[in-house]
Amino acid sequence: MFKGKTILVTGASKGIGRSIALEFARLGGNVCINYSSSNESALEVLEATRVFDCQADIFKSDISDESSVKNMFDEIEKKFGTVDILVNNAGITKDNILMRMKSEEWDNVLNINLKGAFNCIKAASKGMMKKRYGKIINISSVVAFTGNIGQANYISSKAGLIGLTKSSAIELAPRGIRVNAIAPGFIETDMTKSLTEDVKNAMLSKILLGYFGKPEDIAKASVFLASPDSDYITGTVLHINGGMFLG
Ligand SMILES: NC(=O)c1ccc[n+]([C@@H]2O[C@H](COP(=O)([O-])OP(=O)(O)OC[C@H]3O[C@@H](n4cnc5c(N)ncnc54)[C@H](OP(=O)(O)O)[C@@H]3O)[C@@H](O)[C@H]2O)c1
Repeated sequence: MFKGKTILVTGASKGIGRSIALEFARLGGNVCINYSSSNESALEVLEATRVFDCQADIFKSDISDESSVKNMFDEIEKKFGTVDILVNNAGITKDNILMRMKSEEWDNVLNINLKGAFNCIKAASKGMMKKRYGKIINISSVVAFTGNIGQANYISSKAGLIGLTKSSAIELAPRGIRVNAIAPGFIETDMTKSLTEDVKNAMLSKILLGYFGKPEDIAKASVFLASPDSDYITGTVLHINGGMFLG
């Protein structure tokens, strides 16, 4: 389905990003696996793409750094041509209650989760505008809509991504570029592994379907939003949380 299309997935060395990259690889795309520090994990993802009829490579770049992002896009363009599909997935948490949160914890999370997406959208949209077609998917979170204790920085970044999705959808629609967000609920990855059993059980009690999501649940939805099947969808948020809002 994605033969000849170049797909950049940020934060693809682990978890949800890994799964998204592998799903695009399975469907034949030119998959760009971005990461910032986990070389071995990124190489493992690249190795896992080898079983598919696709092209792939790893691209090390800290997406919060504009010049590093520019270099990454230059490298991608040399190798695969301009990016057709961008999945802004990279994200971190640095939880602390508001009164104890240090400004580095605030800046770090906002710079990677929100500014990183802005940097990549700016870099990707140039090539997409020329082609008058492109798909951008921003991975937000259910907590952007509910709030949560100890995550003011993370939630501000994820709520900011919803605003960024809407603004860029408006600006880029005339050039044929669709911009949407996915708001995952609780998905089993390294990010959620460290939570205590009490927190996990409290979350589980709020999920109507009674189980946590898997990275593949987000990967399948990303493929839908990247495919022509969703061409009439832009500026919206797809909630994937097992019914967390209603429990
Ligand atoms: N898991 C959940 O329940 C859940 C729920 C809602 C939303 N989300 C969102 O889904 C996304 C993926 O989450 P996950 O659970 O899969 O996280 P994860 O397992 O911790 O993976 C995070 C990925 O982001 C990359 N990354 C971190 N800082 C980066 C930077 N500066 N530049 C480039 N890449 C960077 C990491 O690569 P390196 O290790 O190489 O830095 C890693 O590949 C995040 O945006 C997260 O907020 C997750």
